[in-house]
Amino acid sequence: MHLTLNNDIQMPMIGFGTYLISDADVQSPVLEALRTGYRHIDTAEGYANEPGVGLAIQAGVKELGLERKDIFVTTKLWPGNEAWGQPVKTYEATIESLNQSLSNLNMDYVDLYLIHAPSAKDQRLEQWKALVELRRMGKARAIGVSNYSVEHIEEIKSAGLSLPDANQIELHPWSQKPELVSYLNDHNISIIAYSSLVPLSTWRIAPGHDSAKTEDMKQAGVQADSPFKIMAQKYDVSEAQVLLRWGLQKGYAILPKSTNAARIQQNFDLLSFEIDDDDMTAIAAMDRGDGVAWSVGDPTKIF
Ligand SMILES: NC(=O)c1ccc[n+]([C@@H]2O[C@H](COP(=O)([O-])OP(=O)(O)OC[C@H]3O[C@@H](n4cnc5c(N)ncnc54)[C@H](OP(=O)(O)O)[C@@H]3O)[C@@H](O)[C@H]2O)c1
Repeated sequence: MHLTLNNDIQMPMIGFGTYLISDADVQSPVLEALRTGYRHIDTAEGYANEPGVGLAIQAGVKELGLERKDIFVTTKLWPGNEAWGQPVKTYEATIESLNQSLSNLNMDYVDLYLIHAPSAKDQRLEQWKALVELRRMGKARAIGVSNYSVEHIEEIKSAGLSLPDANQIELHPWSQKPELVSYLNDHNISIIAYSSLVPLSTWRIAPGHDSAKTEDMKQAGVQADSPFKIMAQKYDVSEAQVLLRWGLQKGYAILPKSTNAARIQQNFDLLSFEIDDDDMTAIAAMDRGDGVAWSVGDPTKIF
């Protein structure tokens, strides 16, 4: 299953996420993901694990008899944020950031380069112009944004610049962002869903894996009669598979992250069942509003 980005670039809909996996630990899960069949890997300058991700991809390509072009690799510009005491990146610094990411990954190009968040305010358009140039130079086959709201994308549109190929945002039954999703669909901007597994009781429970998940949500995840547990029984799959399959049926690419081999395999096994219309309708009524993956609040709202 693929989404077709502008320029006819094919993006596999099931990707592998690497947030909160350290550079020292990331090679084994990425290699496991490649062995399982994932052909889309998501990293970021801000995850500080690009070198390990690059090494795992090179090892996977060799072991599995693949070529670099068989794997869709995404990385992201950390744009900076003055409110957090960080300088925002200029046009030149953005060009330099991708050069650094490519050097970290030991690659000549990435398949998708995203601006991680719309936090750079005065430099947002300059950063976007730099991404357009990086695509022209062939260092990024496709370019996009992450955590951008309608207003942030309208800023690009009003400047007469080419629109992003994709927007990566938090999407799951508890944060469905219907207006943003409909705007992105209307503008042919592919949607990549992150943190699909927020409703699980096992989501980010390791020490230091912070979020804004509420106590109420944590309680909902452990209820024996939770709707996702009931659906999992009905389709004879896990709750994780229900949540991931929901993303695919909405037309989103997904990025499940795990460091556990059995879960990595389970999260890729999504094509043997289909959530029926009644259950899709029931899930549509479960929206609770803003995302919780960022502990500072939903980044489509705070910048
Ligand atoms: N652009 C952005 O701002 C942004 C923000 C957040 C995430 N992302 C991207 O999206 C990816 C996914 O999001 P995420 O990392 O927040 O969370 P996620 O993939 O929705 O969930 C990961 C959590 O669920 C657990 N888990 C995974 N598979 C499971 C299964 N089958 N059964 C039970 N528990 C399971 C994992 O634990 P174990 O590892 O122990 O299995 C981990 O705690 C990230 O890794 C990153 O690449 C992007």
